[in-house]
Amino acid sequence: MQIITDPGQMQAIAEKLRLNRQLIGVVMTMGALHEGHLSLVKLARKSAGTVILTIFVNPRQFGPTEDLLRYPRPFEQDVALAKSAGVDYLFSPEAGSIYPEHFQTTLECGTLAARFEGEQRPGHFNGVVTVVTKLFNITKPHTAIFGEKDAQQLAVIRQLIADLNMDISIVAAPIVREENGLAVSSRNIYLSSQERSAAGIIYQGICHAEKRIAEHENNLQTIVKEVKEMISSTPGFHPAYVSFVDDTTFQPAETADAGKEYRLLLAVHVGKVRLIDNGKIRT
Ligand code: PAJ
Repeated sequence: MQIITDPGQMQAIAEKLRLNRQLIGVVMTMGALHEGHLSLVKLARKSAGTVILTIFVNPRQFGPTEDLLRYPRPFEQDVALAKSAGVDYLFSPEAGSIYPEHFQTTLECGTLAARFEGEQRPGHFNGVVTVVTKLFNITKPHTAIFGEKDAQQLAVIRQLIADLNMDISIVAAPIVREENGLAVSSRNIYLSSQERSAAGIIYQGICHAEKRIAEHENNLQTIVKEVKEMISSTPGFHPAYVSFVDDTTFQPAETADAGKEYRLLLAVHVGKVRLIDNGKIRT
């Protein structure tokens, strides 16, 4: 595995790979690699001959009160994990080479980014699409793998690809969970051991919603209320939002129509930590 920090060098390597007819798959991360990230690398291996993993803690997607400075950066451990997962190139640039002094051009998302994470984290998705576009231009992938864990991010990136005519196919990776159902996340290390085991309630909420839909409850507000109650009755857990959206349009849904796919989106505050999760639910 080769470690590259210079964007120009990465771009030159990617161009050479393309000229040699190599299919490039990219997995973009902010590091602190875990099983979720590694599952994306595995998927990339399936569709591409060369796998590039990017590690960059993107300052532009963090709000002023968020955890940019204390975001975990266990680089040596990440290098070892990436190597054993079969990554070919690890691209980990310095912030100054991605956003040099006179950087000024950014992208702006539309309505898809306005609610949920976008509403609670103003500017977040503009920062995401800007860095994702830069990393696409630097790594020149044929395929890019993103996790369903961040379902709204995935929808926003699919929209970016369509809106800007990017010739990249997106593969969605299923959510990897801990034994109690908690979605694996770099932020889980901030939870106390009690909070971490209690956090299984979020996945139980998703399973409860699935069960209620299977029982033909079609009032989604009723189900949302039940899930919110389950979560807030766990000491220290405060739902920020629990909402159903139509899984194709990401528009909020009030009633469940037969034969459609919905997604239950959740964000929950546990002390200073904010956990997000979601589940696709078919009627
Ligand atoms: P990060 O939070 O590091 O996540 C990197 C990728 O891993 C994302 O596509 C995310 O959805 C996926 N992922 C995280 N946890 C997962 C889990 N438990 N199961 C499956 N996939 C999981 O998302 C970002 O970084 C950034 O916004 C980024 C796209 C890199 C842009 O800066």
